[in-house]
Amino acid sequence: MNSSDLIDALRAKAAVVSPQLAPDRLLAFVRHYLDRRDNYLAVLKDHPAPIYLQESEVLRNRAVRMKRAFEDRLPEVAFYFAVKSNNHPHVAGVMIRQGFGLDVSSGQELETALGLGAADIVFSGPGKTLEELRLAVSHADRVVILMDSFGELARLGPLAADMDTTIRCGVRLSVNPTGLWRKFGIPLTELPAFVAAACRYPRLRLAGLQFHTSWNLSPAPQIAFIRELGAVLAAMPAAVRKQIEFIDIGGGYWPEQGEWLTAAGTPEGKLRETLDLPAGGCDAHYHLPSTPIEGFAEALSAAIRTHLLTSVACRICLEPGRWICNDAVHLLLSVVDKKAPDLVITDAGTNTIGWERFETDYFPVLNLTRPSLEEKPCHVLGSLCTPHDVWGYTYFGSDILPGDILMIPTQGAYTYSLRQTFIKPLPCVITI
Ligand SMILES: Cc1ncc(COP(=O)(O)O)c(C=O)c1O
Repeated sequence: MNSSDLIDALRAKAAVVSPQLAPDRLLAFVRHYLDRRDNYLAVLKDHPAPIYLQESEVLRNRAVRMKRAFEDRLPEVAFYFAVKSNNHPHVAGVMIRQGFGLDVSSGQELETALGLGAADIVFSGPGKTLEELRLAVSHADRVVILMDSFGELARLGPLAADMDTTIRCGVRLSVNPTGLWRKFGIPLTELPAFVAAACRYPRLRLAGLQFHTSWNLSPAPQIAFIRELGAVLAAMPAAVRKQIEFIDIGGGYWPEQGEWLTAAGTPEGKLRETLDLPAGGCDAHYHLPSTPIEGFAEALSAAIRTHLLTSVACRICLEPGRWICNDAVHLLLSVVDKKAPDLVITDAGTNTIGWERFETDYFPVLNLTRPSLEEKPCHVLGSLCTPHDVWGYTYFGSDILPGDILMIPTQGAYTYSLRQTFIKPLPCVITI
């Protein structure tokens, strides 16, 4: 790229105007949690902050809503909660009681699932070790292995033969065989060769296909792959199509509130930071809208009926994680120090969530002790010895003082599972 192309690209990026988060949407969110303030504060009487607060009712409601959305629209559908999105056993336990299976991605997650008594488990992920495969085969009555490569097929086939056990399997298809996503699954073009190779292993029953697209704000990426897969399936021999008992369309359903970003999380803000300019004001919040789950169900079911169920009569499996658990866990912290009118330090740090989330993702910080619908500028920072330990740049409250209880709602997905033992101890998990 020459310098004039680069300048054109910079101009294009600088001209991006990300959509703002509508104030009424934000206030409705804040009001929802402030209305329940007494329930949250009551928990702290027995369990002082900081805590992770899990709401079982939210999980149950999510499970019911997701099942209803898809079961109403597809002939046969099964749900597997993606344990990686929140690996607290209570979350998986609630989902099992709601009739979900579990989607696990390591021997460790598989052990958790088996220990919880899960009867229906899918085991996917790249680089499964022989020990992990052995554990899966030794529970072949409860586990389906979603193979990730020809190499894994060549390891699993002889292992199942040695263990004298027949196991149900599927194969993961890569949704994007270029870039870093190529590490997952096999290219769709290699599916016929994979089916032929799997026939050489009598102890493997290749019964399904899996794919997964991530961070879907709409069903468009999933539908694009369903269309491609449909074309490949239609061209396969009838005997092979008959063999397919399930197609697992993965997870990736973005929660309905969409993605909320700080200025630094937007493309134009990232560019400004690269140029050593401030990304934008702390009072500006941005919003990438998402689709309600019924919208996903409607569009995906139509695509599945048109492109897949015309070639194969099979069960459709889903592996939702984030959509189920995001809203079910909140962080409750307390203010330890007020170092300036616009700078407070809390008793926990972002090791509780494992990444520098709030530099780019916006979630309101609610002062439960001094509730207000007014948002005030303030650096709300954790107590780790790093400046990247940020909760937010504003809070909702009439004031903020040492001892105040702060709530960061909806931190259930890809936070607890990513927690780190770094400098500060981890908070307790309290379930209501
Ligand atoms: C194979 C697979 N299934 C399901 C999920 C869950 O995705 P989400 O939590 O976005 O629904 C993931 C997440 O990475 C995944 O890799």
